[in-house]
Amino acid sequence: MPDATAHSDWSPMSWRERPLAQEVPYPDMEAVHDAARRLRDLPPLVTSGEIEHLIAQLAEAEEGKRFLLWGGDCAESIADCTSDVIAGKLKILLQMSLVLVMAGRRPVTRVGRLAGQYAKPRSTQTETRKTPEGELTLPSYFGDLVNRAQFTLAARTPDPRLMLEAYQHAGLTLNFVRSLIDAGFADIHHPEYWNLGLLQHAGLTAETRTQYQALLDRLSDAIEFMRVAGQKDYDALTRVDFFTSHEGLNLWYESAQTRQVPRRQGWWNLTTHLPWIGERTRRLDGAHVEYFRGVRNPVGVKVGPSMTCDDLLRLARALNPANTPGKLVLIPRMGSKIAAALPPLVAAVQREGLRALWVCDPMHANGIGTTNGYKTRRFDDILAELHTCWDVLAAHNVRMGGVHVELTGDDVTECLGGSGNITEADLTRNYATSCDPRLNYEQSLELAFSLAKRMGR
Ligand code: PEP
Ligand code: CO
Repeated sequence: MPDATAHSDWSPMSWRERPLAQEVPYPDMEAVHDAARRLRDLPPLVTSGEIEHLIAQLAEAEEGKRFLLWGGDCAESIADCTSDVIAGKLKILLQMSLVLVMAGRRPVTRVGRLAGQYAKPRSTQTETRKTPEGELTLPSYFGDLVNRAQFTLAARTPDPRLMLEAYQHAGLTLNFVRSLIDAGFADIHHPEYWNLGLLQHAGLTAETRTQYQALLDRLSDAIEFMRVAGQKDYDALTRVDFFTSHEGLNLWYESAQTRQVPRRQGWWNLTTHLPWIGERTRRLDGAHVEYFRGVRNPVGVKVGPSMTCDDLLRLARALNPANTPGKLVLIPRMGSKIAAALPPLVAAVQREGLRALWVCDPMHANGIGTTNGYKTRRFDDILAELHTCWDVLAAHNVRMGGVHVELTGDDVTECLGGSGNITEADLTRNYATSCDPRLNYEQSLELAFSLAKRMGR
């Protein structure tokens, strides 16, 4: 494989020469260097072998032989690093993937926004609130890797030691995920583990429950049939891999864990398998693109409605200079603008013969505010963007590679609609996200069924 990272002008720290969007206002740079030095010495969270395995799967997805299911919290929180929360997230992703495997009859690669999704870009650097003592302006909350959500000066002051704390909790999360998977929690050969009856989800409608139960019955039959028939796809279809991802926002953290490994070329970001560049940090000459052009990991990049063809082509060439299959994931997130904004971009990438996996994020351009002060999204808008994205790609003969969603395995009330018909008034009931609104358990399954219907066509 060509070494795409053999740039003589690149190093894990070369990003420091470029304009840094979303720069964290650390008050004490000496403490940042100390934390980065410590991080550099700590063992990696993932291995280069796992990352290569993921690249191979993403390459298969480009050819339509796989589907990528990518989801989790908008922002993970350290307080939520508990067994129930982690198992819940794993479970909903696995159940959704089961729905997709059955409908698409091809393997699904699962990627969690998990084990490191602790840094958040913000549209404003500061936040002002009315307090009993008058108006108070403090740094925004940038995620648990940077500062704390509580609205006090002490909590909001960026603290570089939190990089180490976030790293440790990412490690704990990953350790538990790996143990669960090793123990068969996610094993498709044991559909009894997948039984919804174990989960007393209040919001789950009878219709979704019945649909899912019917699917489980069909699955048991299909697995038995494949086993008996010795179908060669049996292993591929039934093996459960699970990969991690996070937005590569804080480059002090990312670069500190970027290393070379024995017997493999290039530099690897070993904090996660699949890092992505956000909509606010994808500037071509910016620090984030500079950093990510040099690592061997596959890299995702968000593609908002303001993206031009020219910028997208240059971005794709910068991030995937050898045009390697499985290396670049383009993530349109355009809301209602998608029907107009996406076609020229897809056409340009096709015309230039650039390899990329297209994965729809139907969440981030569909945010709305409610009259009672909540940040939410309408389930129907989310589905509409997903299906429009699929239409646009299909019209260009390009595979819908997957979906990138914010979700949770809990019965939260953060997004409106779905068959549980969450209303604005319901949002007050269980609005638990520390950042953007997530699909709840039922809405997530419903989304999977909607995709499944389309795959089954
Ligand atoms: C996100 O994925 O949480 C996010 C902030 O997305 P975007 O960069 O697309 O706004
Ligand atoms: Co978000």
